[in-house]
Amino acid sequence: MGWRGNFVLLNCVVLALAILSSAKKISVSYDGRALKIDGERKIIISGSIHYPRSTPEMWPMLMKKAKEGGINAIETYVFWNAHEPQRGQYDFSGNNDLVKFIKTVQEQGLYAILRIGPYVCAEWNYGGFPVWLHNLPGIQFRTKNQVYMDEMEKFTTFIVNKMKENELFASQGGPIIVAQIENEYGNIKGSYGEAGNEYVKWCAELAQSYNLSVPWIMCQEGDAPQPMINTCNGFYCDQFKPNSKNSPKIWTENWTGWFKKWGSRDPLRTAEDVAFAVGRFFQYGGSMQNYYMYHGGTNFGRTSGGPYITTSYDYNAPLDEYGNMNQPKWGHLKQLHELLMSMEKVLTYGDVKHTDYGHLTTATTYTYKGKSSCFIGNAENGDRNITFGNRIYNIPGWSVSILPDCKFEVYNTAEVNTQTTIREKVSSQDGKIKKPFKWQWRNEKIEYMTQEGVVDGSVITANRLLDQKVATNDSSDYLWYLTGFHLKGSDPLFGKTVKLRVKTHGHILHAFVNKKHIGSQYAPNGQYDFTFEKKVRNLRHGLNQIVLLSATVGLPNYGAHFENAETGVHGPVELVADGETIRDLSTNEWTYKIGLDGEKYEFFDPNHQFRKPWLSDDLPVNQNFTWYKTTFQTPKGREGVVVDLLGMGKGHAWVNGKSIGRYWPSYLANENGCSSNCDFRGAYYDSKCVTNCGKPTQRWYHIPRSYLNKGQENTLILFEEFGGVPLDIDIQTTRVKKVCAKPYAGSTLELSCHDRTIKEINFVSFGNPRGTCDNFQKGTCDSSTAFSVIEKACLGKRKCSIEVTKSNLGQTGCKKHNRLAVQVAC
Ligand code: GAL
Repeated sequence: MGWRGNFVLLNCVVLALAILSSAKKISVSYDGRALKIDGERKIIISGSIHYPRSTPEMWPMLMKKAKEGGINAIETYVFWNAHEPQRGQYDFSGNNDLVKFIKTVQEQGLYAILRIGPYVCAEWNYGGFPVWLHNLPGIQFRTKNQVYMDEMEKFTTFIVNKMKENELFASQGGPIIVAQIENEYGNIKGSYGEAGNEYVKWCAELAQSYNLSVPWIMCQEGDAPQPMINTCNGFYCDQFKPNSKNSPKIWTENWTGWFKKWGSRDPLRTAEDVAFAVGRFFQYGGSMQNYYMYHGGTNFGRTSGGPYITTSYDYNAPLDEYGNMNQPKWGHLKQLHELLMSMEKVLTYGDVKHTDYGHLTTATTYTYKGKSSCFIGNAENGDRNITFGNRIYNIPGWSVSILPDCKFEVYNTAEVNTQTTIREKVSSQDGKIKKPFKWQWRNEKIEYMTQEGVVDGSVITANRLLDQKVATNDSSDYLWYLTGFHLKGSDPLFGKTVKLRVKTHGHILHAFVNKKHIGSQYAPNGQYDFTFEKKVRNLRHGLNQIVLLSATVGLPNYGAHFENAETGVHGPVELVADGETIRDLSTNEWTYKIGLDGEKYEFFDPNHQFRKPWLSDDLPVNQNFTWYKTTFQTPKGREGVVVDLLGMGKGHAWVNGKSIGRYWPSYLANENGCSSNCDFRGAYYDSKCVTNCGKPTQRWYHIPRSYLNKGQENTLILFEEFGGVPLDIDIQTTRVKKVCAKPYAGSTLELSCHDRTIKEINFVSFGNPRGTCDNFQKGTCDSSTAFSVIEKACLGKRKCSIEVTKSNLGQTGCKKHNRLAVQVAC
């Protein structure tokens, strides 16, 4: 069979062994120190990747990068409303293929943490609950309510059984080592009184009843009954103590950044601060933590929570929305993970001794079988010199130093040696003569009653204003409210300046009177209610029609009783003159129509033929309720693909019939509060270090490569609700533009342009350079040879690495604290 045959055979044997060994049944238990796998205490460093926020084609790549980043477990929630959009009708296809996702985790050699909830929060539409659930008579969510508990039990059991049938629990040879029931119930339990306490007990009993032989957790639930492990969520969890000495200290959500709402600026949580939080957690006895999010991804379709969660769920996570490494965060944490893992035994079995130096500075020594490892943490902002074991250590403010042998500092959370990667979005027509897209268009139908008062396709009439989600079951963002009233020529109203006033819980209202659009308004920041008021000049004798189109932008996902928050027009709807109500229409007969015509007839599907074809001439711009359609070529390469929707108002976008989410580039981010200097020191909060002030909250929308046709044309279809100009729309890829690094002497410079090569060396300084990436300045004691050394090692290569030493980079005039600063163009 020759060497090739033997090689193939050998590979098959190795593969078969790998499959067999990965299917090995493992036992999972725990004690007060750590989770135990087959009886051995383990450090678990997990990362959240939510399967519906990426595609099955992306999952292996994301997990590979997570593993390379030192992650050993993947955490995901289970999204009830994605799986059971209609009661009893389940969907586990495409991005919702939970079983495939968990199997991919296993194939990548990782553990899985399954947070079933089924309440998940997660900035996901309605916190993961299907809206039909709310519409069941007598239901109350997340409390001792039989209707709710029966449904929760049914869905939880369904998921547990699905995992069991596919042998995905660790005890069956699968990767799932931990499961979660409920989510942060402790944050809101107070509002539910005694029923809340009983509900928590019931959740615990339900979880136990499955006899899964994997531990169950309840996050942010201080009263979690044994054997539920209560865990911590937050930016810092070092001071957290579980409610039983037999439970390990687990951090389920280390927020790596933050989510974004329409109108919010971009979050930035620095690598230094995340590393500091992790360092402190392990210094103070933590043994299992999860990054929320490790890859945030995209809220495709109408899945974003609310109100007003953006389509991008990038989260400033270590992997960006498209799956690229967000550097230096990814790399700085990777180094930390590798170090912590190398200390696994001593951290989980060792004796612990803390030495307090005052000013929030503490040294911690772990000792096991004659080996010691140490942390020195400084939680004040100023640097400190600490004498520890006969040596003096300089501990920068807000940092943790790790000394795996208690002598030499190997890692300090504030000293980032990893490269910073700066990306740009490049037109896929880059280098070619840019051809504008050819657009086709069609109008959305504005609803009116016929003379007989009938609305084509309407389903509901009522003599009151209905809550939007009750009427729609959330099958669309849109609900039409239509009513009519008669006026006599003698009506006193005719002599006055009349206004239509509508109170609505939002989020967006468009109003029409007698077929004329009189105005549109949206809730600023998605606030709970607002009043629309506009002049009406076209009332007439006989029948007058008022048509309101209400749109929601993500249903709420957080807070006690969030499910009861009303949406849509709640009234009053009235005509006012001189500040007084002259006609209250709230209890008129209202006719309701759910959704847009374009949704019903699937204008977003490029394969549909319509009786009235798409139009090519007289392309309308700045026109509301308009559908646009164009085609584009698949960009070459493997880089992430986006559509730049600058110029558009607000709406929804589809590529080849698949939704890539809502868009709203005309909604600008708050213009205040950005600064180019971000001090990582001091406690992080979501508006600290923000960027993108005054720019579109979200201008670029992710098109997963698997949604594109290979070598053929693709169709982009937009529904524009407010009015926009589609002429600048462009298909782009996300590309590495430049890379910088500022490593300390004694560490290693590692530069990578990823798929591209280092084209130019922009800046090199070894000594005491100043500034940050894009703004480096030479210091006063520079080596004269460093530039040529870097040029030789890096130019023309994809990546290069070099030890930062004087022997490599030349002498400097500085005795201590030498640093190298490099910037290259890719
Ligand atoms: C937590 C919640 C998560 C997510 C996070 C913020 O409170 O458990 O699901 O919503 O906040 O991103």
